[in-house]
Amino acid sequence: MGFGSRSETMQRLSEMCCVKINRKAIEQEDHGNGNNGTAAHNHRNGGGGSKKIRGTVKLMKKNVLDMNDMKASLLDRIHELCGKGVSLQLVSAVHSDPSNGLRGKLGKVAYLEKWIRKITSLTAGETEFGVTFDWDESMGVPGAFIVRNHHHSQFYLKTVTLEDVPGHGAVKFVCNSWVYPSHRYKYDRVFFSNKTCLPCQTPAPLLKYRKEELVNLRGSGSGELKEWDRVYDYAYYNDLGKPDKGRDHARQILGGSEDFPYPRRGRTGRKPTKTDPNCERRLPLLSLDIYVPRDERFSHIKFSDFLAYALKSLGQVVLPEIYSIGNKTFNEFDSFEDVLRLYEGGIPLPSGPRFGKLKNRIPWELLKELVRNDGERLLKFPMPDVIKVDRSAWRTDEEFGREMLAGVNPVIISRLQEFPPRSKLDRAKYGNQNSTIRKEHIERNMNGITVHEAIRSNRMFILNHHDALMPYLRLINSTATKMYATRTLLLLQDDGTLKPLAIELSLPHSQGDYHGAVSKVFTPAEDGVEGSVWQLAKAYVAVTDSGYHQLISHWLNTHAVIEPFIIATNRQLSVMHPIYKLLHPHFRDTMNINALARQILINAGGVLEMTVFPGKYAMEMSAVLYKNWVFTEQGLPADLIKRGMAIPDSRFPHGLNLVIRDYPYAVDGLEIWSAIETWVKDYCSYYYTHDDLVRGDSELQSWWTEVRTQGHGDKKDELWWPAMQTRADLIQSCTIIIWVASALHAAVNFGQYPYAGYLPNRPTVSRRFMPEPGTAEYEELEKNPDVAYLKTITAQLQTLLGVSLIEILSRHSTDEIYLGQRDDYPDWTSDEEPKQAFQRFTDRLIKIEDRIMGMNQDKRWKNRVGPVKVPYTLLYPSASDYSNVGGLTGKGIPNSISI
Ligand SMILES: [Fe+2]
Repeated sequence: MGFGSRSETMQRLSEMCCVKINRKAIEQEDHGNGNNGTAAHNHRNGGGGSKKIRGTVKLMKKNVLDMNDMKASLLDRIHELCGKGVSLQLVSAVHSDPSNGLRGKLGKVAYLEKWIRKITSLTAGETEFGVTFDWDESMGVPGAFIVRNHHHSQFYLKTVTLEDVPGHGAVKFVCNSWVYPSHRYKYDRVFFSNKTCLPCQTPAPLLKYRKEELVNLRGSGSGELKEWDRVYDYAYYNDLGKPDKGRDHARQILGGSEDFPYPRRGRTGRKPTKTDPNCERRLPLLSLDIYVPRDERFSHIKFSDFLAYALKSLGQVVLPEIYSIGNKTFNEFDSFEDVLRLYEGGIPLPSGPRFGKLKNRIPWELLKELVRNDGERLLKFPMPDVIKVDRSAWRTDEEFGREMLAGVNPVIISRLQEFPPRSKLDRAKYGNQNSTIRKEHIERNMNGITVHEAIRSNRMFILNHHDALMPYLRLINSTATKMYATRTLLLLQDDGTLKPLAIELSLPHSQGDYHGAVSKVFTPAEDGVEGSVWQLAKAYVAVTDSGYHQLISHWLNTHAVIEPFIIATNRQLSVMHPIYKLLHPHFRDTMNINALARQILINAGGVLEMTVFPGKYAMEMSAVLYKNWVFTEQGLPADLIKRGMAIPDSRFPHGLNLVIRDYPYAVDGLEIWSAIETWVKDYCSYYYTHDDLVRGDSELQSWWTEVRTQGHGDKKDELWWPAMQTRADLIQSCTIIIWVASALHAAVNFGQYPYAGYLPNRPTVSRRFMPEPGTAEYEELEKNPDVAYLKTITAQLQTLLGVSLIEILSRHSTDEIYLGQRDDYPDWTSDEEPKQAFQRFTDRLIKIEDRIMGMNQDKRWKNRVGPVKVPYTLLYPSASDYSNVGGLTGKGIPNSISI
């Protein structure tokens, strides 16, 4: 750690003795471009110790997929960066320049030399250049450099390596940043070497650079931000609607109010709407210029870019066009075989001029792949895992229960501790909302034990979607959706599987909320119309669970809550800061994917509103539920304890007794959690040798204050925030952030297509209520149960949209970086001990992979594979996977929320 190697210290001493004051006059750089400060102070020592330092610069030209700027790309040939196009200037980490505000002394300006070679594939476009610095030995080791781009377009600077700094050896700079032409910045672009240090340990000559860089990243707080800007700032979710188009298009502002609190998003600074000055104007339909700080945009140019374009195309071209064709053109599914045609043969798309227009407007190969419009007008999707081996096992009660432990939303089920289940809704407002399920409904099905015994022996469980939904149900049911609040009771059997006992479907009272819920209880039945009614009851549960999953478990509890941490980290922690280096890999692409989501998924009329049952109330419902969000409960052990799924007990691994031993999400999750926690502890303990260093770390304290008071500002008065006064606070907080961004997101994201790609298994919408005996619908249910089922759940058109979306969202990128991997490996830090700790982390994750595969093959663990024969791999780390094979693998924990 630190900059003072022994030889440097000796050198510094000898310099002091020699009193070399042989400073030459200021040598200004060729371009006096008005940059603040440093350009005018290009001092160098003119003593006899001048040496040549050879360097290698690795960079990437403009994003080759940026088709809008194809012309510029063609003009922008690699060799043009040579000559005087790009200059670099080293900064001493040892000697300050009194005439330049005590910033580190600057070396002589050097330029990119010849293009060395193309080092990777054509598409990646990475290239290496040589550079030769004149460096006065007496200036010691360089700790930073300044780069100026005099060229006419930007490039992505990856690394700079100095091969042999006199008395020191190699010095590495990991940059990973877009460098725009100098006139785009009001400051110099500074990059620091890969030394890691706390603010108080920063070499004095670098301190100002460190502080100034953070000031630059925080920005001025005003004005519209442009493509090249690097400003991280906060805003409310006030850009989801289009109030200027009328009331139907307006949406609630989320964040900044008691009724609708929300995590902050990145500020873009666009102009306000005319109708509502508090709302931000949305971008035009086909605009691709959603501002995110430049280095948050996908910098890698393989699959993620395709995904971005596919998402944009889906939302902005395909979706409106399909809608303009109209729902009528699409039929109902007639049978489950009809649904299967989506995956087996493809279903015909409508013809006619409008669809021709759609076909022509599909801009990208991937989307053509997605909407497999091959001339036969067939829309075809890959076979989802849940029906790959067995076409009907999804309908079994065992699978229904198993997916609560190993499906795409395994984070809701809880242990029932009182019977009948009680509601926590305000009785004065909502009346009696307690469950109407009675012993008589369920005991005959409980393998000979009573409810009391089952509760006492930790065998009763509940999937409770009652309280979350009931307050919004009246509004939701005023739309085309016809839904219930649901409670599902389950019994843990001796073989470790869950047996559903009863489903309660509840509606608000027709005469007003305070009259309480109107509920009906359904119990398992296999045959006849009762069997069909039971299947429908399970479908309503699946609808509530899939809506809650998409909105809360997935969007709110991972994507949305992480963004404020990203903003605060970049504003308050220097790239030299150990915690920045720890967290940065877990923030890759998240602001970008969230910005895309605001543009086409969660906006008014976006894909989410069109395909998920709460419709236009979806996002404001998520704001109401954010009131329940508690940072410290996001870590897995705390979450399991809160849901009663684990009981603290030091005799068990991880100190937790899992009440369902075969709970794949929890079993694998605890292994991953523990590996992350150990890694974070090892890493933090190296830099923070005692608690005082945490308290005294000015950047860390500013960071945490900002997370609490700005990023999650609507929660600033909560008492549960860790105080960030001890190493334990720091380790706990960083472990939670990494867990949420990596494993938690993977668990709730990549199972979407495998389980919900077949909509009958996880329908997203219901269009009518449970048929009452004596009605035509009931008769239909009796005679033709599959048709009645399909008429109740998601319609064909929404199915196509929904399945298209989750197919995109469930894909792993080909350049995915999994937990236990780093794209800046091994140069991310120069400190050996943290590198070794990281290696231990990777090794442990690889061992977990073996264990998961072993358990999946062990027949004792029935919930790991289930009747549908889909092994649980959503928390398989893939730390050992460098194959660059992406796609619908249903496996692997990426470091960050990138899709
Ligand atoms: Fe996601």
